[in-house]
Amino acid sequence: MQKLFAVIGDPIAHSMSPAMHNDLFAHYGVDAHYMPLHVNKKDLREAVFGLKAIGVSGFNVTVPHKESIIPFLDAVDPLAESIGAVNTVVNVNGCLHGFNTDGSGFVTGLQQEIADIEKRKILIIGAGGAARGIYFALASAGTKKLDLCNRTLKKAEMLLKDCPYTVSTNIWTLQEAEMALADYEVIIQTTSIGLKVNDPLPLSLRNLRTNAFVSDIIYNPLHTLFLQEAGKKGAKIQNGLEMFVNQGALAFEKWTGIMPDTARMKKIVLSSLKAD
Ligand code: ATR
Repeated sequence: MQKLFAVIGDPIAHSMSPAMHNDLFAHYGVDAHYMPLHVNKKDLREAVFGLKAIGVSGFNVTVPHKESIIPFLDAVDPLAESIGAVNTVVNVNGCLHGFNTDGSGFVTGLQQEIADIEKRKILIIGAGGAARGIYFALASAGTKKLDLCNRTLKKAEMLLKDCPYTVSTNIWTLQEAEMALADYEVIIQTTSIGLKVNDPLPLSLRNLRTNAFVSDIIYNPLHTLFLQEAGKKGAKIQNGLEMFVNQGALAFEKWTGIMPDTARMKKIVLSSLKAD
């Protein structure tokens, strides 16, 4: 029987995941179908139990359910538990197991561009769910210098407290980070600033090193104002496509045992973005 996979979220109509995973299933000869499912916050519990009842093989979880789904799962991977967010669920003999492949997907994408990331001085802008996944994954990769800045300092402090790995970390306000920007070789923008046209910069890039590597986890638009400005200052830039594709690749591997071709996935997402 054909296996069923899905992504649940609200909104969900513009998700690139169905096109990406259905292409992979066809390419690797896996008899499966991946569907976008619109689930309201109030219906999450019923939706998860319903998916389990009909024998879903696995699914992705996106905004706004990544945190709130945890109590409805049968098991949660310890890293996902400490991050406090699940983006991938695997049905193991009728039990729903939750994982987080967002942070590890980001680090995989970063490692393709930068050698020895554990030796780099890294700044993460933001302390929300995405920043938590990325910070924990970089910390688990053995990064020695990993600083954080956020509008709300308390949230950055919470992130640090919840991390199971010990890393040397300064927590800065956005203004302090602006002043200290020249210290960093790698800067990772994880806030939602830049998703909307006319959004300002999360912080000024005045003090950016010319040889810095600047990553923004947003991929729609492909190049936020932050990335454009960093590029103008001579930095090497990376958009959120790598993270998106790599989180999907790690999910696909958990479901099928196949590590898929990420270059192929990137092409599919780019063409879906253009058609959107
Ligand atoms: P996600 O799960 O996508 O990371 P989130 O958990 O809502 O989303 O986190 C959003 C991040 O963007 C946070 O770091 C947030 O800062 P606060 O912790 O201070 O809320 C940041 N952010 C969103 N809008 C912002 C703004 N206008 N100025 C500065 N930071 C902003």
